[in-house]
Amino acid sequence: MRPRVLSGMRPTGSLHLGHYHGALKNWVRLQDDYDCFYFVADWHALTTHYEEREVIEKTVYDMVIDWIAAGLDPDKSTIFIQSRLPEHAELFTLLAMGTPLGWLERVPTYKDQMEKLKDRDLATYGFLGYPLLQAADILIYKAGFVPVGEDQASHVELTREVARRFNNLYGRHANFEAQAAAALAKMGKDDARYYEKQRKAFGETGSAEALAKGEGMLKKAAAGVAGWTEADSELLLGHLKGSGKSILVEPQALHTEVAKLPGLDGAKMSKSYGNAVLMRDDAETVTKKIRGMTTDPARARRTDPGTPEKCPVWQFHKVYSDTATQDWVRQGCTTAGIGCLDCKQPVIDAIVQQQAPWRERAAALTADPKKVHWIVEMGTERARTIARQTMKDVRDAMGLGY
Ligand code: TRP
Ligand code: SF4
Repeated sequence: MRPRVLSGMRPTGSLHLGHYHGALKNWVRLQDDYDCFYFVADWHALTTHYEEREVIEKTVYDMVIDWIAAGLDPDKSTIFIQSRLPEHAELFTLLAMGTPLGWLERVPTYKDQMEKLKDRDLATYGFLGYPLLQAADILIYKAGFVPVGEDQASHVELTREVARRFNNLYGRHANFEAQAAAALAKMGKDDARYYEKQRKAFGETGSAEALAKGEGMLKKAAAGVAGWTEADSELLLGHLKGSGKSILVEPQALHTEVAKLPGLDGAKMSKSYGNAVLMRDDAETVTKKIRGMTTDPARARRTDPGTPEKCPVWQFHKVYSDTATQDWVRQGCTTAGIGCLDCKQPVIDAIVQQQAPWRERAAALTADPKKVHWIVEMGTERARTIARQTMKDVRDAMGLGY
């Protein structure tokens, strides 16, 4: 079985090249090696855009179309919409009971975003709780890996703490130690001593070998000890791992080197800053936008030499151009041998060429909305099977199994 990856994206507007290079391209790459779950985070969008439901409503399916156009394959990846799975909300509620307020107040994105999005009233309960909702999104699929940008690493860290706390609170029932001792007493003395030795070694050093040896001993007991039960194995496996019973899985952030593509003015690309090239911009719009891009301010006149490092166009060349073209830029810029419009042309050509297959696939899907709905339907049901199973485990662990 391939390890599971989970990630989400908020439907707050058309996708642009920053989304593609920052996340989507990586998502496409991952689907060959992982069991990937990708979802439209519409509830997350509402935590900041609760006054703009039209944007979200309009964007959800367009976003799925852009994902597939860029190369996500619904046969490889599970694509779904968060709000279609109320299980996420149920887990969020249950996790909320024991999550200290301070954990959420200390998430660095909380104050950052409040500062940045001053025009919105974000002094809401939903906005404070949104990293916990994200934790529920991740934990409900027992995902091992979460591809996120640097800015979201703290959310994965919070997710790990929440999982650990849950397992500590609910993974170990009151008479766990006594039951473990009783199970151990069923084994032969030497075997029990061997198991204890491995358990201690694993607890102290995390040695995979000790863990494997301990597990081996439990297999031996299951095969040979009279009166041994499945529950004994389960109990002692939890004892061995030191986790009691792990119900929720601690995920890891998956940081992949991504090419940083700035906006047209050199700031972070964002539709709300008006500095974005959209994945679906047509050739004419791309040409106009790139030709209007900010350049090194030292090149006020054609005859002034410039420094590529001080120019956002250079960042585009680093993503879109081969070394020969990059050498031509460096040489031409620093000697005033080329003009900025000459310099921009290869970037325009490369973007337009990259968009061609996206445009073709997006047009086919836009013309066939039933197909897109069907893809989301299939993905949602696949996700639901797993989410339901986790919720059953969680309810049982919290004493809600009646
Ligand atoms: N919070 C993420 C963002 O703003 C989106 C998101 C929601 C997400 N749930 C997630 C990402 C779970 C990774 C895993 O971009
Ligand atoms: Fe930027 Fe190219 Fe102009 Fe140099 S020549 S300032 S790299 S656009």
